[in-house]
Amino acid sequence: MIRWSEFLVPYEMAVEELKNKFKSIRKECVKNNEHSPIEFVVGRVKQIPSIVEKARKLGLSEDEIENMDDIGGIRIICQFEDDIYRIVDLIRARDGMDLEIVLEKDYVKEVKDSGYRSYHMIVKYPIFSVKGLKFVFLEIQIRTMAMNFWATVEHSLRYKYKDDLPKNVAEKLKSTAHEVYLLDKEMQEIRDEIISAQNLFMQKSNTISEILENIGVLEKMGNLDSAMDFRERFESISSKKSYDMELQLEALSDDIKKSIIIERESLNEEFERTVGSK
Ligand code: GTP
Ligand code: MG
Repeated sequence: MIRWSEFLVPYEMAVEELKNKFKSIRKECVKNNEHSPIEFVVGRVKQIPSIVEKARKLGLSEDEIENMDDIGGIRIICQFEDDIYRIVDLIRARDGMDLEIVLEKDYVKEVKDSGYRSYHMIVKYPIFSVKGLKFVFLEIQIRTMAMNFWATVEHSLRYKYKDDLPKNVAEKLKSTAHEVYLLDKEMQEIRDEIISAQNLFMQKSNTISEILENIGVLEKMGNLDSAMDFRERFESISSKKSYDMELQLEALSDDIKKSIIIERESLNEEFERTVGSK
C-alpha cells in the first residue's frame, strides 16, 4: 500500500519551490521596470483518485507510479506568444543546473487535434527533504492568457461530457481555438505598443511607492515639517494629472531623497557633537 501523504510530500515541495522560482523572475522584471515574460504561475499536485485512475489506465504497478510525469504540475501564463519561447529559453538555461529537461512538446507550433495549444516540458527536479535527496518528475505547461482561457473552458466541457463531446460543441471549440490563435497573433503584432504603455504605468507606480516610502523615512527621522510639505506636493501632483505628471513625480522623488541625505548628515553632526562633548 502506498502511504499517500508521505508519497506526495516531495511533489508538494517541488511544486512550491519551482513556482516560487518563476515568481521571483517576474518580481525581478517588475523591479527593473522590464516586461516580464511571466504573467503568473500556478501549480498543483494531482489528486489521489486521478493518480490511481491514470496508473490503472497505463497499467502501472504501485512501484511504477513515481515514474508518472505529471503528478506535480506547474503552469506558467504569459501575455504574448513569444514570451513562451523566452520562458522555454530560461528553463533550458537551467538544464543540468537545478533541473534536468526530460522531454519537450511544442503544441504551440504543432496544434493538437482538439485545437489545444501550449508548450510542455517534463523536468526532473531534485528535492532535499529530511529523508534526503529525491528526484521527482514535473510537467511544466507554458501558454498565453488566451490559450489558457480556451484550455480551461475546453477542459470543463470535456469533463462534463466525459470526453464524448457532441459534434457541434467540438466544432465550436475548434473554431474558437482558431480565434484564440488569431487573437494571440494580433496581440503579438502590437506587442511593443502594449509593453511601452505597461512600462510607463509600472515606472509610475514604482516612483509613487518610492515617494510614499521615503516620506515615511523623513517622518521617522523626525522632520515632520518637510514630510508634510512633500505629502502636500504629492497630493497636488496626483490630483492635477497634468501631461508631465511622471516627470513631476520623479522630480519630487529626487527632492525627497536629497532631503533625507541632508537630514541624515545633520543627525550625524548632532551625534558627533554630543558624543564629542562628553
Ligand atoms: P496525458 O495522459 O494527458 O498526460 O497525455 P500525454 O502524456 O500524451 O500528455 P499531453 O502532453 O498530451 O497532455 C498533458 C496535459 O496537457 C494534459 O493533462 C492536459 O492538462 C493538457 N492537455 C493536453 N491536451 C489537451 C486538450 O486537448 N485540452 C486541454 N484542455 N488540455 C490538454
Ligand atoms: Mg502526460
